[in-house]
Amino acid sequence: MTEAHAYAQTLGEEQSVWFKISPFVSADNPMEILMRMSEKRGSCFPVRLKSEKIYFLSDIEHIRHVLVDNVDNYNKYFEGLKPVFGKAMITIDGALWQKIRKPQQPFFHPGVYEEYFPHLMAAARSKIDEWSDLAASGEEVEILEQTWGLAADMACRALFDREMPFNPQAVFGAVKAYTDVANHKAIRTRKMSGEVDEVSDDEEAAQAIAAWLSLPDAISGAKPIDHREKTLLKMLQDAQGDPDAPEFDRQQVLDEIKQYLWAGTETTALTLGWIFYLLHRHPDVAEKIRREGEEVYGDREPTWDDIQKLNYTRAVMLETLRLYPPAWALMRTAAQRDEIGGYQIEPSDKMVLSPYMVHHNPKYWENPDVFDPGRFLPGRIKKRVKYSYLPFGAGKRFCLGGQLSQLETVLALTMLLRRFRLEYVGDGPAKFSASVMLTPKGGLPFRVHKLS
Ligand code: HEM
Repeated sequence: MTEAHAYAQTLGEEQSVWFKISPFVSADNPMEILMRMSEKRGSCFPVRLKSEKIYFLSDIEHIRHVLVDNVDNYNKYFEGLKPVFGKAMITIDGALWQKIRKPQQPFFHPGVYEEYFPHLMAAARSKIDEWSDLAASGEEVEILEQTWGLAADMACRALFDREMPFNPQAVFGAVKAYTDVANHKAIRTRKMSGEVDEVSDDEEAAQAIAAWLSLPDAISGAKPIDHREKTLLKMLQDAQGDPDAPEFDRQQVLDEIKQYLWAGTETTALTLGWIFYLLHRHPDVAEKIRREGEEVYGDREPTWDDIQKLNYTRAVMLETLRLYPPAWALMRTAAQRDEIGGYQIEPSDKMVLSPYMVHHNPKYWENPDVFDPGRFLPGRIKKRVKYSYLPFGAGKRFCLGGQLSQLETVLALTMLLRRFRLEYVGDGPAKFSASVMLTPKGGLPFRVHKLS
């Protein structure tokens, strides 16, 4: 274990709010509990946990206050998740955050996506080949393992100019075990009961850590696909050791690369997974996606221009992100005193801003629990209340890769659904687990069928 990775040997701090709320998040229906609490106690309510106050916010005015109007008073809260994220951009604040984000921003500028397009297509083609074999074998698969592999391959090709240099099946399982904070708690319990002395004695955790930490070097060491002159990976590698950019030390660069394989991969993987789940329950919607593809690009492969025309496919993605936002909670900690919703906020109070609660609030959305992609068709979108749709956050900490992920998802949907039908084979409706991300409890098992 190199010095740069030493921090990862520890588990997240037990005092972290992420762990404190884990009894709630591991309930069978965490989102129902949350919605009931807000109905009873209002759109801003505090929960006291020992010495700490945690406010749950779901009113868009309050959320705007924290994310936009008084943003400098609310710092990112990633305590307890350091072993996973290190000091990546998503976790830090202030001048350092600006210095780290600025040089990476051009790689997510709308003007670069056309250049990424052929690389995303290559990843989709490779998944089609894999699914043709899966369909022939009739094997049952965990769809999130599949979509994680696809999203990781897309990110590696587009941003790093590399074919995914690891086995996604192996890495997905291991990384999940490590990035799932509730699992840290289980390991810690085993530790306390004397079953485990050090984290590295726990085989599952040790393997997970090793797999997670090996990713940046595997990527850097892999052969470039096209030797593109400008890639995000190159920018990060060049910055390391540049005397004019001392903030990009080795640790920072490793953490930035890993960040893309979590924040930029698990989120897209979950979105695709939830879409396939919804399409199993609404086969007419899957049919409409196929028909739209047929009308726009017929029997050839879609081009960059074709993808921009797939309004219905895009609407299905946006509606799924409304119903099941992977980032169900954005966490912040107050720096100075403030007032929100009549409550006196004290320094170090924690704020949980919930896109899930906003998206399911009848004040902002008609029939909020109904799956209706039509609400995102051009023309109807304009009527939306500002800040009532927050899957990618808001304000200056808005998701850096939101547009890239939308392109990846629309492309994957149209390519895969034209060729396959997906059958959900789980026992009954999917249940939620609200860890750092909103994930299906126990996964989403599927069978892939080839369309004739
Ligand atoms: C459906 C897919 C995605 C969802 C739902 C999502 C959601 C989010 C949200 C809600 C935030 C803000 C968190 C906060 O305010 O605390 C965020 C930040 C971020 N996301 Fe995404 N994301 C997605 C895809 C991606 C992709 C594809 C990438 C890159 C390849 C990416 C990179 C980032 C980064 C770097 C940040 C941190 C930005 C900053 O702190 O300045 N995300 N994402």
